[in-house]
Amino acid sequence: MTAKNATTAPTSKAAAAARQDAHRGAVPTKKLKPAQTEQTAKTAKTAKTAAEAIEAAEIGKVAEAAKTAKAAKAPQATKATKATVAVKATKASKSGARSVRPAQRPGLDITQPTELLGGLSPEQFMKRHWQKKPLLVRQALPGITAPVDRATVAQLAASDEVESRLVTQQPGGRWSLRQGPIAKLPAWSKPQWTVLLQGLDLHVPAAHELLSRFRFVPEARLDDLMLSYASEGGGVGPHFDSYDVFLIQVSGRRHWHIGRRGVATSGELRGDVPLKVLADFTPEQDFILEPGDMLYLPPGWAHDGVAVDGDCMTASVGFRSPWRAELANELLVRLTDEGDESTAGSDRMYVDPLQEATSAPGLIPEQLLAFAREAVLKAVHDPLALERALGEALTEPKPRVFFEPGDALPEGLNARLDARTRMMYDAAHIFINGAAFRAGGRDATLMKRLADQRRLLAADVARLSEGARDLLDQWTEDGWVQPD
Ligand code: SIN
Ligand code: CO
Repeated sequence: MTAKNATTAPTSKAAAAARQDAHRGAVPTKKLKPAQTEQTAKTAKTAKTAAEAIEAAEIGKVAEAAKTAKAAKAPQATKATKATVAVKATKASKSGARSVRPAQRPGLDITQPTELLGGLSPEQFMKRHWQKKPLLVRQALPGITAPVDRATVAQLAASDEVESRLVTQQPGGRWSLRQGPIAKLPAWSKPQWTVLLQGLDLHVPAAHELLSRFRFVPEARLDDLMLSYASEGGGVGPHFDSYDVFLIQVSGRRHWHIGRRGVATSGELRGDVPLKVLADFTPEQDFILEPGDMLYLPPGWAHDGVAVDGDCMTASVGFRSPWRAELANELLVRLTDEGDESTAGSDRMYVDPLQEATSAPGLIPEQLLAFAREAVLKAVHDPLALERALGEALTEPKPRVFFEPGDALPEGLNARLDARTRMMYDAAHIFINGAAFRAGGRDATLMKRLADQRRLLAADVARLSEGARDLLDQWTEDGWVQPD
């Protein structure tokens, strides 16, 4: 499908690979770069100050050990994958239309079989399929209804707060791509066009709930819910993505053709289209997905989905995997963001009183190389600095995200994370929207609960220390947390 800079020559290996990502329209670089709006930057700063106050007020002693999000392994797209897709059909209840259940229920049991995964437990799914082989689940979400109607699709596509793209197939196998906002979509009856709405979960509660069903994958890997609306015959062409994807049919029907890269396709892209469309594709399998059906594809599986009739909506759960070089770059920027220059008279600036006159002025002094090496090593040396930089980077709000300020959390109410809030933790820190806090003891336990369940019951809120409660109030005022 498409990448934003589809026609731009890649400047690095990572950038070139990133452009292969059809599903994600956005170039991944953005995802990990500080993306604070003026408002989020301001609120993060206030919160940091509040955190310091809390530390002083002894929020806890030492943080207890906690689950650490494991770094994702590099995808092995075509290796060791079977051509046959396991098809899981659940004994779907015939109870008729049913809205998507609320997300992360307290104590979600990852060992329990679920219809969402065709009767596999999340644990089994992760072991057998995740990053390994596709899974087709018939009636994964029986009775699902589209999270938005047609009019809302048009409204969101026209909004400059939503990342949208319009893909149209022209006669003669030509394709056109238009970046949003799109003031007016083609007529619903006109065939062969698709509009893609990225980050629907940030704008539509039902989409956020749907995305939350997949929180058996670490939050650090979860990206967003993209919605595609296609008229009859619409699609984005055969392509492959570098990320895992769950494709959920929410209305209409879509005919998917899939196959392994290296078997079904050479991976070569057509040079004459503004999208990442494969030059060759001989599918290995095909399925028609009906509302409620879901197809999971690991990275690197070629796929081509064409709307069978009109009003075809597919929600896709996308993931993020940082490129190693990109992550290192992001972390080093954060780790060295201390303002060395302000510490006059220290050893932080390069000095060379023993430099001799040189007849080879082009040669880089050995001593400068040693200084550079030390600078890099020093930056990662502080045992908690890297952890902090990683947590801050991973919880940085997405570009275009704004929070609406509110009031402090009223007594007796539950606290719920705003859909746009990213909250994670490690053994020593709590991270929220790009800010890091040290916490220990009961406060840490409760804050981790808030991060895991995205909700904290009033009874738990009441157990927070005064300092931690102040912090929660601050987050509620900033719009990061909502009363519930
Ligand atoms: C995808 O291929 O990843 C999604 C495309 C679509 O929903 O049309
Ligand atoms: Co795709």
